[in-house]
Amino acid sequence: SKDRLAIIKDLQQEPAVIKAAELIKEGEVVALPTETVYGLAANALNSRAVKKIFAAKGRPQDNPLIIHIARKSALEKLVSNQLDNNLENLLTEFWPGPLTLIFNKKQLVPDQTSAGLKTVAIRMPSHPLFLAVIEKSGFPLAAPSANTSGYPSPTKAEHVFADLHGKIPLILDGGSCEFGLESTVVDLRKKTAVVLRPGALSREKLAAFLGEEVKIAAPGKLPKNKAAIAPGMKYRHYAPEKKLYVLPVDFTGEELASRINLQQVDRIALITARENKIELSSQFKKLTNKIEIKLLKVFNRQQPAELAHKLFDLLRKLDQDSKVEEIYIESVAGTGIAEALMNRIYKAAAAANDFQPGGEND
Ligand code: TXA
Ligand code: MG
Repeated sequence: SKDRLAIIKDLQQEPAVIKAAELIKEGEVVALPTETVYGLAANALNSRAVKKIFAAKGRPQDNPLIIHIARKSALEKLVSNQLDNNLENLLTEFWPGPLTLIFNKKQLVPDQTSAGLKTVAIRMPSHPLFLAVIEKSGFPLAAPSANTSGYPSPTKAEHVFADLHGKIPLILDGGSCEFGLESTVVDLRKKTAVVLRPGALSREKLAAFLGEEVKIAAPGKLPKNKAAIAPGMKYRHYAPEKKLYVLPVDFTGEELASRINLQQVDRIALITARENKIELSSQFKKLTNKIEIKLLKVFNRQQPAELAHKLFDLLRKLDQDSKVEEIYIESVAGTGIAEALMNRIYKAAAAANDFQPGGEND
């Protein structure tokens, strides 16, 4: 809307935005808020600048980055696909927002950004600060999540600071991120749309708009095939240092007790839905005579978005909490954001336990 454009224009006069844009133009990296998670941004067209992103994060070289743009007209320079009416309509509906699309890349996009692929991932974020920095710098910005590779993604400026201070020159603090989970990565180039990474935009919304089925390449659990389609799926992701265990929806006291190794563990954190009445079960009471349980009832089952918003922050806090040795979390059921949430939770649990569901090394 006009208001949004005016806000973005005004923001370009802010000293912090001016500073960020200057650093970008000098080939530096800066951390910026988006509506999903914080991103670590650099000029997507400058290989040396993009290389600094990989260095600061400790990111494997073969994991490509998403390019962020502020207006649709920026697409033509970057991609060789025919931009037909169907695509235009889709972009009008979902951009700016948490939808990342795969395109065939033009030469201008360096291999460093696309990790040597012939394709490139692009999205238009909705956070006004991020958009203002793109506009002020005049460059499309490559940006992965601004965390140390493998660790939970940053949803607050302080998370970025904890991971990257001393390694990057600037973090813009935009408060906590609206969604708390990354964008949905979608490949529309084939007959059927395929979600390569479930995310903040639900598959149902996309399917409803397209009027057809949208497949998913990365469901809750990791795929069995060795060559994961989204390269990011191969690596350790989203994981705290401490062990993380996933419990079924509305798990019983028996189910909880059976997963805890009482010989080794004295203190756990338990993340559940507010509806969960686990503390009333006799098994739970018995358990609390043997170990300390920090019970965190932090979301309603009908509102998994609330857990999505908090998840990475919670995992980071519990990782720092000396009163907690292991983390247990209740699953969320259903489609929509729940699908993306379970994807992150399973991956974090798999990585934290050195467990490889389906044999994939995440
Ligand atoms: O919400 C988000 O998407 C955040 C914010 C900062 O925009 N960014 C983000 O970036 O999550 P990153 O690098 O953490 O994840 C990018 C994902 C990875 O799974 C990567 O493999 C996939 O997008 N990807 C990037 N380029 C691709 C390509 N050409 N083909 C397939 N997957 C690609
Ligand atoms: Mg990431």
